[in-house]
Amino acid sequence: MKVPRVWQRGSKDMTAMPHPRHRTAKKPMWIIVLLSIVCVSLIGAYVYPPRRYSTCYFFASSVCTPFKDWLPAVTRREPTDQEVFSSVVIRDLLSMPMPVSKKPKIAFMFLTPGSLPFEKLWENFLQGHEGRYSIYIHASREKPVHSSPLFVGREIRSEKVVWGRVSMVDAEKRLLGNALLDIDNQFFVLLSDSCIPLHTFDYIYNYLMGTNVSFIDSFLDPGPHGSGRYSIEMFPEIEHRDFRKGAQWFAITRRHAILIMADNLYYRKFKLYCKPTVGRNCIADEHYLPTLFKIVDPGGISNYSVTHVDWSEGKWHPRSYRAADITYELLRNITYFNEIVHIASDETRTVTSTPCILNGRKRPCFLFARKFYPDAVNNLLKLFPSYTSA
Ligand SMILES: *[C@@H]1O[C@H](CO)[C@@H](O)[C@H](O)[C@H]1NC(C)=O
Ligand SMILES: *[C@@H]1O[C@H](CO)[C@@H](O)[C@H](O)[C@H]1NC(C)=O
Ligand SMILES: *[C@@H]1O[C@H](CO)[C@@H](O)[C@H](O)[C@H]1NC(C)=O
Repeated sequence: MKVPRVWQRGSKDMTAMPHPRHRTAKKPMWIIVLLSIVCVSLIGAYVYPPRRYSTCYFFASSVCTPFKDWLPAVTRREPTDQEVFSSVVIRDLLSMPMPVSKKPKIAFMFLTPGSLPFEKLWENFLQGHEGRYSIYIHASREKPVHSSPLFVGREIRSEKVVWGRVSMVDAEKRLLGNALLDIDNQFFVLLSDSCIPLHTFDYIYNYLMGTNVSFIDSFLDPGPHGSGRYSIEMFPEIEHRDFRKGAQWFAITRRHAILIMADNLYYRKFKLYCKPTVGRNCIADEHYLPTLFKIVDPGGISNYSVTHVDWSEGKWHPRSYRAADITYELLRNITYFNEIVHIASDETRTVTSTPCILNGRKRPCFLFARKFYPDAVNNLLKLFPSYTSA
């Protein structure tokens, strides 16, 4: 056993003293008492060191122990009423059995300003699968004109949506709420007017129904368009280290859809403090769900979106495909990507590639893709049977 250095030094000092006995006798009592207390506590601390630092030398504290770790543990922050209410609801939602449906359906939820240019393509995709899907349309600007009977009468009540504002999240929640009314809807896919399907219906149905994971994009971007959008008013419920970014286009389980309905605590923080106009230019729909699930169920989400988009040009908007860009090679390429790419927005522009793992297997990441211009529809219709075939 190592002897603490204080003892070695102490005994050396003692032997160096010529007449220890006389000196001891003259010493005032309080010094002896004080010394004994110090020694006893040092021995105590040596024998029962704080667990995390048991390998540290006592007097080398500067190299291993910040001073605050020697102070009694700071009392933990008391959760607020709202945090307690929220945590019990979420905990039980995550563990309770969900109602079982005999004929589970996928809810395709379209968030669009007006008409959907790819209705005919979706009709091709959905044909022959009646009873296994439902369609919901949130048209925020004008009443859509339909080119497929499958979409007629599927609009829900909508409200104005302002890009980057919480009204975008509200529209997503409105779609979820309406789709949840049908107990048979078991998976909820958010799509835009510029989205197309990349696989056959059966492939997509089995991909989604075969897992309990929700496909929500979520990554830590340390740059100005990621963590830089965090505002301190979100503290303490949302800490800086939990703030995440991700594309808004999700595909989620019924359990997680209900969880989003139940959340008011984190939603409120984003409604109040994540806006494009105040200071930090925060975009609510790119941060609310990635951050919420990072906090409440990080293991329950894939961290990638099943909707492909190409940000590689590094512009403000992703690449948009025109009719002339549409080739069999392009679509097959996108269909069989099995790595997800995230680009940090700081000066390092760090690119992270993560394989898409589902139920322990590496799988193609994407089921849908955006953004396609309306003029691409005829080429897409022509190629649909070939690019979706296995
Ligand atoms: C999903 O969870 C339920 C209940 O928790 C379980 O019975 C089922 O096997 C799970 N499905 C998959 C694909 O993991
Ligand atoms: C997603 O990321 C979180 C951290 O943000 C992690 O805890 C979780 O395991 C990840 N999920 C998967 C499926 O990799
Ligand atoms: C397909 O992917 C390969 C490899 O990522 C790339 O080199 C090629 O340009 C892509 N082709 C098209 C048409 O996008």
